[in-house]
Amino acid sequence: MAGVALDKVRKIYSGGVEAVKGVSLNVADGSFCVLVGPSGCGKSTLLRMVAGLETITQGEVSIGGRVVNAIEPSDRDIAMVFQNYALYPHMSVYDNMAYGLRNRRTPKPEIDARVREAARILAIEPFLKRKPRELSGGQRQRVAMGRAIVRKPQVFLFDEPLSNLDAKLRVQMRVEIKRLQRSLGVTSIYVTHDQVEAMTLSDQLVVMNAGEIEQVGLPSEIYRRPATRFVATFIGSPPMNILPGRVEGPGRISLAGGTIAVEDMREGLPPGTAVDVGLRPEDVRPAPDGSLKLTVDFVEELGATQLFHGQMSGAEFVLQSQTGTIPADAREITAAVDPAQVHLFDPETSKRLGRE
Ligand SMILES: Nc1ncnc2c1ncn2[C@@H]1O[C@H](COP(=O)(O)OP(=O)(O)OP(=O)(O)O)[C@@H](O)[C@H]1O
Ligand SMILES: [Mg+2]
Repeated sequence: MAGVALDKVRKIYSGGVEAVKGVSLNVADGSFCVLVGPSGCGKSTLLRMVAGLETITQGEVSIGGRVVNAIEPSDRDIAMVFQNYALYPHMSVYDNMAYGLRNRRTPKPEIDARVREAARILAIEPFLKRKPRELSGGQRQRVAMGRAIVRKPQVFLFDEPLSNLDAKLRVQMRVEIKRLQRSLGVTSIYVTHDQVEAMTLSDQLVVMNAGEIEQVGLPSEIYRRPATRFVATFIGSPPMNILPGRVEGPGRISLAGGTIAVEDMREGLPPGTAVDVGLRPEDVRPAPDGSLKLTVDFVEELGATQLFHGQMSGAEFVLQSQTGTIPADAREITAAVDPAQVHLFDPETSKRLGRE
């Protein structure tokens, strides 16, 4: 097995589009790395450079310590699973899985053993003789996974493999992929624009924006201490609220309508400094003596929780609360937030203004 390293990797497409702007990243051997970011931020381009399906304009990609820039995709010892599965429609499930091994002249008994083992792991043994069109979306997805597994590669690369499935099946397959990766222990890089998928699957989460990495870390770390306003509003659902504020004094911020205390605030920010104040919908709770006021426009019922949408301190705001704690017909909610849960960002640079 092998880790993957990117060193200042750039991609400029022939039309002049700079899709990836000098990305450096280390993916540890056996870990599950997820690249997440909005559409067009360069996730697929980066993955395809690791796979060898795109040339690398500048920088180096290494797999298992070996620079692979000039190495053919078929010699990189990787297996890729695509969004559209890319199965051969005229071949049976068995032949789809065996195809890559036959091309490599793997002995027949070994091909058979590997295909049957993968089919067992993925619970697709009953379908081995069927054609892909005779399968459901989830079953096709498993065949695509099976085709990757039989290769016993050093690295799995996934590009939005679940986005063609319905919501329920996505959750189920997400759990299966995680379990499978754990048990096989193969280094994996997984691309998605779905932040829930990204949070739940990753050991290492990489948030990308406009061809660059905004933050790398454990998913829980990124959620707790987002490095930029972009990351703060991209990771977490519903997204973090951002309110305009000003520094009043050490650990104190004034908002239109009240003052709040902040634990994680950089020393020496002069009074009057403009800040963006980030409050997660789930961190703001009703409190009769609170200094935050939400004017409610409408309520969304999610079952276990309710989302109160409205205005706070001159900005759009969403408050999430356990169903039953706030009357659904409330027009105004007085609320407070724990000083440890207040995030501050520089309005100019968008960077976190937490303690150094
Ligand atoms: N073959 C190409 N030629 C020129 N530009 C391209 C090519 N492929 C992608 N791009 C551009 O490069 C940028 C990054 O594209 P990429 O496919 O990597 O994004 P992505 O993050 O995977 O997005 P999505 O979530 O929509 O799949 C985009 O601006 C895209 O238009
Ligand atoms: Mg893509």
